[in-house]
Amino acid sequence: MNKIIDFIEDELGAAFEKAGYDRSLSKVTVSNRPDLCEYQCNGAMAGAKAYHKAPFMIAEDVIANLTERAYIGEIGAVKPGFINIKLDRDAAAAYLNEMRAAKELGIGKADDPQMIMVDYGGPNVAKPLHVGHLRSAIIGESVKRIAKKMGHKVLGDIHLGDWGYQMGLIITELRERKPELPYFDEAFEGEYPEEAPFTISELEEIYPTASTKAKEDEAYRENALHATYLLQNGHKGYTAVWEHIMKVSVADLKKNYDNLNVKFDLWKGESDAQSDIPDMIARLKADGFAHVDQGALVIDVQEESDTKEIPPCMIQKSDGASLYGTTDLATLVQRQRDYGPDKVIYVADKRQELHFEQVFRAAKKTGIVPGGTELSFLGFGTMNGKDGRPFKTREGGIMRLENLIADIGEEMYKKITDNRTVEEAEARATAKMVGLAAIKYGDLSNQASKDYVFDVDRFTSFEGNTGPYILYTIVRIKSILGKYTAEGNESDGLKITGADSDGEKALMLEAARYNEVMAAAYEELAPHKICAYIYDLANAFNRFYHETKILAEEDTKKKESYIALLILVKEILEACIDVLGFEAPERM
Ligand code: ARG
Repeated sequence: MNKIIDFIEDELGAAFEKAGYDRSLSKVTVSNRPDLCEYQCNGAMAGAKAYHKAPFMIAEDVIANLTERAYIGEIGAVKPGFINIKLDRDAAAAYLNEMRAAKELGIGKADDPQMIMVDYGGPNVAKPLHVGHLRSAIIGESVKRIAKKMGHKVLGDIHLGDWGYQMGLIITELRERKPELPYFDEAFEGEYPEEAPFTISELEEIYPTASTKAKEDEAYRENALHATYLLQNGHKGYTAVWEHIMKVSVADLKKNYDNLNVKFDLWKGESDAQSDIPDMIARLKADGFAHVDQGALVIDVQEESDTKEIPPCMIQKSDGASLYGTTDLATLVQRQRDYGPDKVIYVADKRQELHFEQVFRAAKKTGIVPGGTELSFLGFGTMNGKDGRPFKTREGGIMRLENLIADIGEEMYKKITDNRTVEEAEARATAKMVGLAAIKYGDLSNQASKDYVFDVDRFTSFEGNTGPYILYTIVRIKSILGKYTAEGNESDGLKITGADSDGEKALMLEAARYNEVMAAAYEELAPHKICAYIYDLANAFNRFYHETKILAEEDTKKKESYIALLILVKEILEACIDVLGFEAPERM
């Protein structure tokens, strides 16, 4: 659907033209003085010089020439030359009825849908998920859902860190503990056991133990590096151990991401890109893109216009080992072959920006990715504790994601059962839902690139700019609608009519912004815009709710219009929280 502001601008543009001024002066914006008007146009001021006229006179001229006006309601010229506008009441109502009748609230689906891949999550197998991975999962999931909402074909890929040194560490430690296992017997010819030689909790203990040992013991470290090398070169027993690690870890990761309502379409990882590396390197060498620099194979990515130095992208170390950049390039080779994406969006810690800049440039320069493909990096800041330092447990250790989610759920459970009797199972389920909203909204309401403070008390509050406040608003609407139908009323086919109060009008204007907000959030990969919007919308609703007797309204037409407006507001809020990755309970 077209934006309401464009309709206003069209009508005003015609008036500018009719009055003999350039149409382009008619730019309309949302008013920065909502106490005076809803929209404003500063074109008269902009045109004063060119037309040698006082801006106020131009403004009056334009208003006098406004003959076609379905959308423009009240309009007035204000000194020195502002044009203040209010949207016509009936036009606002008609627009909202159109939204209600349209598919998906009239969202402006892409005319030419793109194939978009979102690379997010990026956990490292066998290392427990920690809060550092939370942001990538939450932001990536939302970006993926927003792109889908806009009509694109989107694939989310978890891009597991499943091929590095951590694997060598685990193999080394396992070998020390259980040398009798067949994986370590070079002469073993039979079938390896189906069952993994460890559980997930053992695995999570093995990794940090091995990591500490390697830091203290040089020989141990050498062993781990060698094990990594053997694994990467196809060692049979180690490959079998690796498969066990993958199976056990991935099952655990799936459980964790499920709890977060994060769903990947592809569970590919760094290991999947390995088979493409040799050919890729051979081609890059043959085509003259890669050259040896101090023993390493690199691709120069510095460009003329750069104001700072961008170091070359390293693709092979002097010992023949490949690097993070090599894997990302080979992954692009694979993505290009298997999916031919129009766009790839990477959601990772902003400290990886240079890495992605190098990879993107190398991919474009070498033709791994065609010129028209957009590679984009969405870098996020650090999640800090109240002390302003990276979020830790109370004891100062690394906070595991699982525990964080459980802690928040517990906090919500307390709030929900406080002074109230709620059935245990329902209270638990609601606490989980609201807790997730608290975490996700707390994260997404900040611009991704900024660091933010994870403040449990603030995030779980039912008041203020929080997830629980948004859910509370939805639940409040649901409850009014429930009562309305319980009174024997039919809620289908109701029509919204012109607003009677400022509060109602303000709510209608907020509701009408849905489409443009979603489009802007997509263009700018900015879920925080959706959060800001639903906070405004929820505030507008709650003001309306406090000022208006909804169910007690005696004028049936009016009451029906209120109900229709509530249904629309609820649907907008639900569509928005859905793209943010959480949902609302029936009661709370
Ligand atoms: N596994 C990486 C990490 O934990 C993140 C992966 C980001 N994605 C990528 N294609 N490099 O830092």
